[in-house]
Amino acid sequence: MTIELKPLTAADAEAHCAGEDELTVRWLTGGYGDVEGTAGYFEELAANAAAGVGKRGLGIWKDGRLCGYVDYTPDLADGIEPDDVALAYGVHPWARGQGVAVEAVRLICDVLRADVVGKRAAIRVEPENTASVRVAQKAGFRYVRDYPSSRDTQPDGTPTIFSLYLLDL
Ligand SMILES: CC(C)(COP(=O)(O)OP(=O)(O)OC[C@H]1O[C@@H](n2cnc3c(N)ncnc32)[C@H](O)[C@@H]1OP(=O)(O)O)[C@@H](O)C(=O)NCCC(=O)NCCS
Repeated sequence: MTIELKPLTAADAEAHCAGEDELTVRWLTGGYGDVEGTAGYFEELAANAAAGVGKRGLGIWKDGRLCGYVDYTPDLADGIEPDDVALAYGVHPWARGQGVAVEAVRLICDVLRADVVGKRAAIRVEPENTASVRVAQKAGFRYVRDYPSSRDTQPDGTPTIFSLYLLDL
């Protein structure tokens, strides 16, 4: 199995959207994307990369087929320190359960080290999202604490509780 991270282009939008399911929506996006909006989002990511600011998102390819998404946000102020870089990821349903997310997290941490971004990688995960908790553990992150988000809320309006996992870069 070869896992690669590469920039996303408008041509990847359809496959990206086809890889969303109810778990992606529940734990990551909050709603299904459409091809046009997703292509626009990929253009924003490319502009961020060119300018060297803000969220950077990359596609995850498994043996040449798009199978997921991973990003990092260097300036996310929600329960983490300024030197902590927040990661987020999703894997298409057909590619789950094969260690793809763990490898993608390792690769994006290599990118952070190479580009000297931040001092720690941070995974903020709702404790009920056991698959993602396992990703953090298997990628070598240490559990730090649970905390209420200052940005994200549950459908009933209460703050989302995140477990924070950190890895020194
Ligand atoms: C979390 C997620 C990225 C894990 O990706 P993955 O490539 O399947 O990760 P792994 O193969 O390393 O498996 C991690 C855990 O997922 C669970 N898992 C295994 N097979 C699975 C499957 N077919 N479907 C769902 N989860 C599965 C297991 O608990 C596994 O841990 P284990 O190997 O110790 O049993 C993926 O489930 C996903 O896209 N979920 C929706 C989005 C999301 O939750 N993002 C993270 C937000 S913090």
